[in-house]
Amino acid sequence: MSTDKSEDKSLIGYFKSMHETWDILRWSMREFVNENARGYLKRVYFWSVLSRLVSLLNPWLVGLGMTGLFAHDKQIALFAVSALFVTYVVGTIFEWRTGHFIELALGENIRSIEHKINAIFFSKNLGLHLREGGKLTQENMEKGWNRLDMVQKSILFGGVDSGVSLVLSLSMLVILSPISGLIVFVCLLLNILFSIYLNQFIASRMEPVEKRFRRIFRKRGERWQGVERVITSGRHMEEVEEMNKEFSETLEEDRKIWLRYILGTMPRGILAGVSVSLVGLYAGWQVWIGHMAISDIVPILTWSGMSTQQIRFLARTEREVSWCTPSLKSLREALNLECDVQENPDAIELKQGPVSVEFKNVCHSYEHARKDSDKGPVHVLFNLSFEVKPGEKVALIGPSGGGKSTIVRFLLRYMDPMLGSILINGFNLKDIALQSWRNLVGYISQQPRIFDGTLRENLIYGLPLHERQTITDEEIWKIMRLLRIDFGNRLTHGLETRVGRNGMKLSGGEAQRVMIGAAALKRPRFMIIDEATSSLDAENQAAVQEGIDLLLQQQEASAIIIAHRLSTVMRCDKFVVLKPVESLAPGESQIECVAHSIEELFEHSLTFRKLAELEGVRAAA
Ligand SMILES: Nc1ncnc2c1ncn2[C@@H]1O[C@H](COP(=O)(O)OP(=O)(O)OP(=O)(O)O)[C@@H](O)[C@H]1O
Ligand SMILES: [Mg+2]
Repeated sequence: MSTDKSEDKSLIGYFKSMHETWDILRWSMREFVNENARGYLKRVYFWSVLSRLVSLLNPWLVGLGMTGLFAHDKQIALFAVSALFVTYVVGTIFEWRTGHFIELALGENIRSIEHKINAIFFSKNLGLHLREGGKLTQENMEKGWNRLDMVQKSILFGGVDSGVSLVLSLSMLVILSPISGLIVFVCLLLNILFSIYLNQFIASRMEPVEKRFRRIFRKRGERWQGVERVITSGRHMEEVEEMNKEFSETLEEDRKIWLRYILGTMPRGILAGVSVSLVGLYAGWQVWIGHMAISDIVPILTWSGMSTQQIRFLARTEREVSWCTPSLKSLREALNLECDVQENPDAIELKQGPVSVEFKNVCHSYEHARKDSDKGPVHVLFNLSFEVKPGEKVALIGPSGGGKSTIVRFLLRYMDPMLGSILINGFNLKDIALQSWRNLVGYISQQPRIFDGTLRENLIYGLPLHERQTITDEEIWKIMRLLRIDFGNRLTHGLETRVGRNGMKLSGGEAQRVMIGAAALKRPRFMIIDEATSSLDAENQAAVQEGIDLLLQQQEASAIIIAHRLSTVMRCDKFVVLKPVESLAPGESQIECVAHSIEELFEHSLTFRKLAELEGVRAAA
């Protein structure tokens, strides 16, 4: 039996969900409507109030014209007709002004959404981005973006306009015929009660459906990205069917909810009919008994009709808002995720110069590992201490899953370790201004990340603005030649050759070499190389390795180099061997051995000997 705990049918539950919707809407207006847009909106409202007022005068003028006709009073009749003409002309001008500022406000809102979402997305630390099951996904952001835009249009233009029109037409009605105004007002109150009910209905039922949609869209995005694997695995037909099935099932659920919602809105339409009829009956009776002029019937019926129509428009706005709220909720959750890496306001700015790094008793376990274990935390890193002196090149050697890439994540501060500290030039990494540290680092990741654009753009991507603007082609070619990444004569347009989406036009090895070139161009003081040469053939690998060595020597940069292939780290100054964390005795450090030569490694490290044996590396190598 499925029970949905989030569904609270009590009155308190109704109000809670109303409050939540209200809260989300306030957040979306506060965060995403900027000062300029507010300025334009004020003008939109100013002109639209004027325009509504003018259009509301029309039925009254028609009534006046009728009075003139009944009384055979030419002056009144002519005045009414001329005034009608003027109101149409003036109304048209006011509508033009309203439309003009709506367009400006709309543009400003979209700009604000685009800017804010981008800014908040990139302000989150990488640990949050890489967390499994997280909400900071492309699909979630895109859907939130669209819904935010829709909600803003719905409320700021449709909703406010209907609200203003309702208040004005109801006020005029109350002035002319208080009882008719009361009838429409009661209709409005009943509508509000319906809204509360329907809002709660949607909020409670849509949340799980939204979650399923999110999962589906994430999977779809992943499969689209991985089209090569899907097709080469012969799974494309199956995937299409599977995705269609999952989508159809979820859509069915979604549709059921919305059809019930639409059915629930029916009484409102009937209610509107009842209230206009009641006003008609009342006004007719008033005329019948001689308490009201027949010409008053026109404005009374028109204004009550307009009021009820605006109530229905408001209901439509409310429906759109309800439809968007679940996506806005998850967008808000994603954007409000608290960074688990906080930068100290008085952070230390690192200066250009030699870099030393020290890991001191670092312990860490990823969250899921802790939950799954009944024996306490399962560590990925345990009691890890080692040092990289200025200019030293240190190889990190260890089994797959041993935590090498995790060490890199700490160094780049994707997240902080649970215990222990990392010192850069003697300062705790937590106290250092991150940007100043990242400026010193050249990072080459396991996966090349090439952007669509030219080779040049990709190579200089990590340089500060002024260097990007001033760097000459000769400087770029020099580094490329040094690293043997000049691609022979394959580049059709030299540095301006386009590399395609995800570097599609480059081979795996070429893409990796571009990443190496990009890191090298930064002239970093500290290099982090995670399996950099893994997709190169033996010849290129040796050449690139030589280039990296040369570069590191020239720059006096320190480095941490991770490689599965031992041959790529042979020329390092120091070797740090990690043991598999599962094999540690209680309290034992994860570092099996720190050596300064291959011979020393062979002598002291069992893990290394095992890896070397697998690769056929000998002590004399
Ligand atoms: N985001 C994550 N959430 C949970 N567990 C993770 C996460 N990233 C890595 N792990 C786990 O932490 C352990 C260490 O992973 P890490 O990527 O640091 O290994 P590695 O030494 O770089 O391996 P390889 O040599 O294969 O690249 C692995 O067991 C992995 O399953
Ligand atoms: Mg790794």
